[in-house]
Formats: sequence, C-alpha cells, structure tokens
Amino acid sequence: MVFSHSQNICKPLPSDIILASFPKTGTTWLKALLYSIVNRSSKQRLTVENPHSLIPVLEYKTYGTTHASAIAIPPSNINHSRRILSTHIPYQLLAKTLDSSECRVVYVTRNPKDTLVSTWHFVNKWKKAKEDRWPFDVAVDKFCHGLIPCGPYYDHVMGYRKLCLDRPKYAHFLTYEELKNDPKTHVRKLAEFLGCPFEGEDAEAQVQDIVNGCSFEVLSNHEVNKAGGFPSRIAFIPSNSFFRKGVIGDYEEHMSAEVVEKIDALTKENFHSFGFMYGV
Ligand code: A3P
Repeated sequence: MVFSHSQNICKPLPSDIILASFPKTGTTWLKALLYSIVNRSSKQRLTVENPHSLIPVLEYKTYGTTHASAIAIPPSNINHSRRILSTHIPYQLLAKTLDSSECRVVYVTRNPKDTLVSTWHFVNKWKKAKEDRWPFDVAVDKFCHGLIPCGPYYDHVMGYRKLCLDRPKYAHFLTYEELKNDPKTHVRKLAEFLGCPFEGEDAEAQVQDIVNGCSFEVLSNHEVNKAGGFPSRIAFIPSNSFFRKGVIGDYEEHMSAEVVEKIDALTKENFHSFGFMYGV
C-alpha cells in the first residue's frame, strides 16, 4: 500500500483489514483481537508487544511524517499474510478510498458518555503539571461542540455506520458494549466477516483463548503495556494510558445529572432521530 501526499489517497489491497474508530472507543482491544483472529497463535506477540506496535496507525505512519513524497506502510506487519492497519480518520474523508476498495473495514464505537470520560482521563494522563490538567467541564463543552481530535464524535460514528449499512460485505460495525457483554459471539462474527471463521473441534477453545488473551485483565498486566510509551507530535503517550478501567458506564462516576441530560439530548438528536437507537 502506498500513500501519496499529493493525491491524498491510499489504495488498500483486497486482503487488507482496516480498523476504524473514534479515539477511546476500544481501538487497543480491537487491535489485539483482530491481530489474534488473523494470526491464530499470537499469544506470545501480545505478551511482548503493545497492540499499537503490532498494528500501525495509517495517518501517523504516513501523513504524520514530514516526508513530502509517497511513503510505503512500514514493514511491521508485512510478514503476516494479511495487513492490518488502524485509522481515526472520519469516513467522510476516506469515502473515496473505502468505497472503491474490497478491503475489510471493522468499525468499533462506544457510547458517547464513556468515550468522553475516557478521552478526558487519557489527555490528563499526559499532563505533567497539575495546574495544566484539562478541566472536566471544558472537556464536556469541547466534546459537545465536536472540538476534540477526530470530532465531531457523532459525525464519525454516523459516517462509518453508513458505510457498514451500505457495504455489509466489506464493512462491519460493532460496539464496545456488545463486545464486552458477549465477546465470544463477536469474535466469531469478526472471524466470519474477515473470511477466516473458526472451524473444527477446537473452534470453541480457540475463540475462548483469544477472548481471554485479549481481555483487559490479561493485556493490561503484560509488562510491555505497563511501562514505556510512544513519542508522538502532541506528547509522549505512556503505554499504560491505553488501559485504564475498561468498563461500561464509568461516566456515572464523573457526570452530574445535568451533563448526562445534555449529552443524551445530543445523542438523541444525532443518533436516534436518524434511526440509530444507541448511546443513551
Ligand atoms: P477507559 O478509559 O474507559 O478505561 P482506545 O483503545 O480506543 O484508546 O480506548 C481506550 C479504552 O478502552 C479505555 O477505556 C481502556 O481502558 C479500554 N480498553 C483497553 N483495552 C481493553 C480491553 N482489552 N478490554 C476492554 N477495554 C479495554
């Protein structure tokens, strides 16, 4: 896959898998799961490499550099039969590329209130000085106005939802909550969608093994996910900032009834009124 800055497009191969997500909606988890589904015996790699090292982010590895010419995707996963990439780029900006490709897109989303709380914690984890911390009320305001990276959240979700409804053979939509509540069913579905279903006598055991190996408890306890981090243009991102609590409904610990009401109203306006009954 080669990306050209001048044309601003990429041409995925039909065998490529692109994990798309809004930040803090379960990207790390899905990276581990997709890697494990595609490379069945991946347990060892996940104990020594952070999921973000295994699966490159399209925009950071390409457009994130200062190189002016076309840049090939780095070789971190060319040894595997299928390449897996991730992106936070909204569908609206990738539509031309994705609509004309036979690559498989997996989109994960998460309810807006937990996404916002997770974002707020993540940003504050980078901040060294206490006085530099991002106040929660400011985060709520920015989120509601779509003024956070890759925002607006609602447009991001609805864009990829459209792709998944229009091209179900090529694009698969799932939520953090569905995955959390029934990981085995969704791991099986993902494998079928990717054309590599679990079969044979040990299918059930393989699925269970992947679910266990990618669980929050197991992944967050690997040394590689506790120490170190990733230098980025914005800040040094500690590896452990990708693993905080991993639960559904943590917003209840942070949001007043008034804030909940405000975000729920936005969710109804942006999701429910378009027939997507999610997120409240
Ligand atoms: P919390 O901050 O609510 O705990 P992303 O990977 O898109 O950055 O999302 C990070 C969120 O996913 C964090 O949520 C993190 O704890 C959670 N997470 C990371 N790994 C997970 C896993 N294996 N299972 C469930 N949640 C996970």
